[in-house]
Amino acid sequence: MSFFTYKKGEMHAEGVALKTIAQQVGTPFYCYSTGALRAALGEFTRGMKGMNASVCYAMKANSSLAVIKTFADMGAGADIVSEGEMKRALAAGVPARKIIYSGVGKKATELMAALQSGVGQINVESVAELETLNAVAGQLGKRADITIRVNPDVDAKTHAKITTGKKGNKFGIDLNLARDAFAKAGKLPHLRVVGVAMHIGSQLTTLAPYAKSISKVAKFIAQLREDGHRIDRFDIGGGLGIVYKKEKPPSIAAFLAMVKKATKGLDCELTFEPGRRLVGEAGVLVGEVILVKPGASKTFVIVDAAMNDLIRPTLYDAWHDIVPVRQPRPDAATIRCDIVGPICESGDYLAQNRDLPRLSAGDLVMVRSAGAYGAVMASTYNTRPLVPEVMVDGTRFAVTRPRPSIEDIFSTERYPPWMERPKT
Ligand code: LLP
Repeated sequence: MSFFTYKKGEMHAEGVALKTIAQQVGTPFYCYSTGALRAALGEFTRGMKGMNASVCYAMKANSSLAVIKTFADMGAGADIVSEGEMKRALAAGVPARKIIYSGVGKKATELMAALQSGVGQINVESVAELETLNAVAGQLGKRADITIRVNPDVDAKTHAKITTGKKGNKFGIDLNLARDAFAKAGKLPHLRVVGVAMHIGSQLTTLAPYAKSISKVAKFIAQLREDGHRIDRFDIGGGLGIVYKKEKPPSIAAFLAMVKKATKGLDCELTFEPGRRLVGEAGVLVGEVILVKPGASKTFVIVDAAMNDLIRPTLYDAWHDIVPVRQPRPDAATIRCDIVGPICESGDYLAQNRDLPRLSAGDLVMVRSAGAYGAVMASTYNTRPLVPEVMVDGTRFAVTRPRPSIEDIFSTERYPPWMERPKT
């Protein structure tokens, strides 16, 4: 079920017309549907019934406090990758014990902050990190619960920039080297090994790479237990894909059924770290057409949302569906166009070679499936303010992050003391 549909000729987020939000908030803006967020996590929760499993939302996908709190209120934990994300998760009401700290390069100061706050689990990715964490925990007189993230060397069949479980990737410890890493961890007095973690990539649209990785890791867990390690937890990571174009990603229920089967008899508490699947289709980016510029070979529709607001098309050649906010007539003629932003780079586009109904200045367009890795990857390039975020719930909506003023963007900057102040 889509939470973004045309009603009476106007695109709505649940019961709110996007046009109404645009009139009050201005454009561009991100808009999230609470119903869609809840529905996605609800599918996980229902599917996990009877399993010893939990969800730690990978908040890197969308770290809006309101989004995190929506999930925290439903019982989810958080998967974090920085001290900043930890502070956000705690601020949004995620209990520290439900936080998992992932990441390939955690600093000693970040590890210290995590231990002081009482995060539930740290997923270690290298022998060097084992040593640093042991030293930091020792200083604090604590023992840290850790898993070691292994790299199962399985091709997730996704975009190269978001593949993480192959030998050539920087993530995790190669399965052949991981046994030694566990042996080392077992001897460090301030660490308590509680399990194994993996995460093989993002936007996976088939289950086979998961099944293959889980079976490799399950064999490895048996070996670790023979070596005398207590392996109580298996963190399966995130990565489940969504629909951008015409993908047919597996349902959450099918994913969980596969995991259930693949981990049968393993006797591990399971953790899932979905990010994109919980928020991707629950969010859209809305922009306004500034002008339409016919070119020699195609038409450029220049909108006020740009690559700094949504970098995915430029960075990953990602496809995002774009539709007019005012419903086109079914027989409306289309024109071949590029939907581009105003930034001075040819890479600044949201979509290329699309056949869209004729658009004119002032029309609103909606970019679909922009809830994950949209607002969080935005920048102020070209001194463009970060786009506001709006949350809808039924017929109500609220701005959850207001648009900063242009002065806000540079208000923390300073001149060096030897420089004369500009005369303003
Ligand atoms: N767990 C770990 C350890 C991760 O590194 C990631 C994502 C996740 C969970 C969540 O993965 P998800 O369920 O969202 O696929 N910016 C890219 C995606 C980067 C993903 C990084 N790691 C994009 O826009 O496609």
